[in-house]
Amino acid sequence: MVRFDTSEQRLAALVTDCLAVGLFDEDTLSGASLALDKSMRGALSKLKAAGDLPVRPGESQLLLAPAGIKAKRLLVVGLGKRRDFRQRAWRKATSTALAAALRTRAAHLALAIDQPENDTADAYYLGRAVADLTGAALYRTNDFKTGRKPPRPALRRVSIAGLSASGRSGARRGLAQGEAIAAGQALLRDLGNLPGNVCTPRYLASQARDLGREYRTLKVKILDEPQIRRLKMGCLLAVSRGSAEPPRFIVMEYRGGAKSAAPLVLVGKGVTFDTGGISLKDPAAMDEMKYDMCGAGSVLATMMVAARLKLRLNLVGLVAAVENMPGSRATKPGDIVTSAQGKTVEILNTDAEGRLILCDALDYARRYQPAAVIDMATLTGACVIALGHHFTGIMGNDDALARELMSAGERASDRGWQLPLTEEYAEQLRSNFADLANIGGRDGGAITAGAFLGRFTQGLKWAHLDIAGTAWVSGAQKGGTGRPVPLLSDFLIHRAGAHKG
Ligand code: BES
Ligand code: MN
Ligand code: ZN
Repeated sequence: MVRFDTSEQRLAALVTDCLAVGLFDEDTLSGASLALDKSMRGALSKLKAAGDLPVRPGESQLLLAPAGIKAKRLLVVGLGKRRDFRQRAWRKATSTALAAALRTRAAHLALAIDQPENDTADAYYLGRAVADLTGAALYRTNDFKTGRKPPRPALRRVSIAGLSASGRSGARRGLAQGEAIAAGQALLRDLGNLPGNVCTPRYLASQARDLGREYRTLKVKILDEPQIRRLKMGCLLAVSRGSAEPPRFIVMEYRGGAKSAAPLVLVGKGVTFDTGGISLKDPAAMDEMKYDMCGAGSVLATMMVAARLKLRLNLVGLVAAVENMPGSRATKPGDIVTSAQGKTVEILNTDAEGRLILCDALDYARRYQPAAVIDMATLTGACVIALGHHFTGIMGNDDALARELMSAGERASDRGWQLPLTEEYAEQLRSNFADLANIGGRDGGAITAGAFLGRFTQGLKWAHLDIAGTAWVSGAQKGGTGRPVPLLSDFLIHRAGAHKG
């Protein structure tokens, strides 16, 4: 555990294991480095003139036992060109500083890296980002390697240094909230990184139950297969049919607001492994379909963040947890099933299973007469084609809600982009034999999936986040990202007014 605080101490007098300052790619020192250079009798400007100090983003240089200042180590971090120094560059510089500090045995890091000018980021967001980035730097995946584990990092305390007295309370509030968001992200990453043979529907349910034990404000209810059958969730059960793992429906309720206040409902896709079913997927990268429960994981994680921060609002989390497998009992292309709402669905492709479990979960949301419903799902490969890995796809039936989510993503550096969801797309879901088909062809695949959900959310204020491109990264750094927990947390924090002092 790392503690966070702020310091208004003059930088040269700051007693710390490691002081981090930034250096722009320009001829002269400025800001914190200039102030320190005076106390250091020009040592920094000499190194700079010799070209020995880093100025480019991602670069850093550790100076041991610097003379003239109280810090034991001085970490100089490149900031790049001043005109390109915005939120993203600041985050990169701060991450670079954290990573470099973690390679030392410093227990206390003081961050005095310049903030972007004329940026909306205030002290509160600075605090949040520092805690958030620290959490990311410290995160270690829950791997199953049997060799010796690397030593525990020495870092115990991170301070934001060089802060003006006026920014102090905002920064502290931001640090506290950022810490909770980082914990939520770590939980989501852990759940996502677990293999499908560990993280099953029953495992997700037990994790939800554990959260209910840890946070007394979270009420958790788990529905098993017979109870799901009684709710007539025919679409959810159609997906689960081929699997030996029984499905679970998870209900989490958090009450932090007035009794009469309508709750927000979060709904998550919890396909703990997606083989595609009878419409079997290609083998390439199929292992990554263990991440197909990241919508569910983000519901659990965001509920935890709300409980930790004691947000003053009412919140419900719903998770449909299933495994999508082929098998002799599995649903076949062309099978027709009846959703909880009563609509019949022709399942033309068993790999379009996310929308099937979500439509029944969205129906369950109605009983809360919610202020808004937001679902999260690794729903379509088409969303990855449309937006790549940078933006979450946002759709829905309420532009104000979609815009609110986009703003939250912007503020939290976890961005989403709205895709159009007009009736033309729903027309692609026509079926000859049932009320609708579960696929709408290749074209506009992310949106026709959204349109399918839209057929079940009439009368609700609803938004859908397609996180297929953002929930995890592939390749050598394969792993969960913890997205969209920052976006959702920011959204809730703003709804609850907790960003203000
Ligand atoms: N879980 C997948 C979506 C997915 C695929 C996410 C690859 C991330 C990477 C989803 O269940 C799925 O299989 N969707 C199909 C829908 C199609 C059959 C209409 C897809 O995207 O190919
Ligand atoms: Mn699928
Ligand atoms: Zn899926």
